[in-house]
Amino acid sequence: MTGLLLDGKVILITGAAGGIGRAASLLAAREGARLSLTDVSENGLEEITEQVRAKSAEALALPADLTDGESVNAMVAAAVEHYGRLDGAFNNAGVSGGQIGQGGRRVGEWDETAFDRAIAVNLKGVWLCLRAELRQMESQGGGAIVNTASLAGLTGFKTTAGYSAAKHGVIGLTKTAAIEYAPTVRINAVCPGYTDTDLMKDAKRRSGDAIMARIPSARLAQPQDIAEMACWLLSDRAGYATGGEFVVDGGYMAG
Ligand SMILES: NC(=O)c1ccc[n+]([C@@H]2O[C@H](COP(=O)([O-])OP(=O)(O)OC[C@H]3O[C@@H](n4cnc5c(N)ncnc54)[C@H](O)[C@@H]3O)[C@@H](O)[C@H]2O)c1
Repeated sequence: MTGLLLDGKVILITGAAGGIGRAASLLAAREGARLSLTDVSENGLEEITEQVRAKSAEALALPADLTDGESVNAMVAAAVEHYGRLDGAFNNAGVSGGQIGQGGRRVGEWDETAFDRAIAVNLKGVWLCLRAELRQMESQGGGAIVNTASLAGLTGFKTTAGYSAAKHGVIGLTKTAAIEYAPTVRINAVCPGYTDTDLMKDAKRRSGDAIMARIPSARLAQPQDIAEMACWLLSDRAGYATGGEFVVDGGYMAG
């Protein structure tokens, strides 16, 4: 026993090259996990994989496009082939859809390509990952999964049409999977508030002051804030948590 949160656990993180994914990869590595990291951005993936290895942790880089079922199945199969099992997965990759924030588009104004993309990555991508991960975790007799939803998965936000629809879908998938696979696999959603990453930069540029005025904690979330919740949910210390929506938003939804 080392006291590390994820000691020896084999964990897969999607969107590992992005803001929250990077923070989760580094934190999980520090907490003793053995990692498979995936992203569609191959350069970003190489970078974070090297950073994790530089901390003397094990990391396998598996580039994949999560909108493609074969790519997802091959990625999960390669992770299992390498480590022999899969204890945890953080299904975190996502895209904003590019039309969010002040001056962004209302439901009747989103273009079809952006809507399809928001659903393909944020919703179908999570389901494709869940499908492959659950098969493995059920066959090995246990596991834990965290899906990244959003506050936009809990309530309406102007200009977020495709994004909000997808994130509400992620919560539905999370709850359905949780009751279908309990008690063998725990499945939860983390719902970040406004977090300081690339995904937020357009919304921040367009509506930064209005956003800040609504956050009781008076700051954006840092990726680390979200990573802490995800890693806890993946750990055995969260053993009774399943089917939940874990909000990390500096009090935004409380007001
Ligand atoms: N930043 C925020 O304010 C915020 C708030 C709520 C929820 N979220 C969610 O958090 C998650 C992480 O976002 P982030 O803020 O770190 O953004 P980010 O843009 O920094 O990272 C997202 C990562 O997902 C990857 N990705 C995109 N499409 C992919 C695909 N088809 N296949 C594989 N990888 C793909 C990107 O390459 C990128 O590395 C997303 O699901 C996002 O919706 C973010």
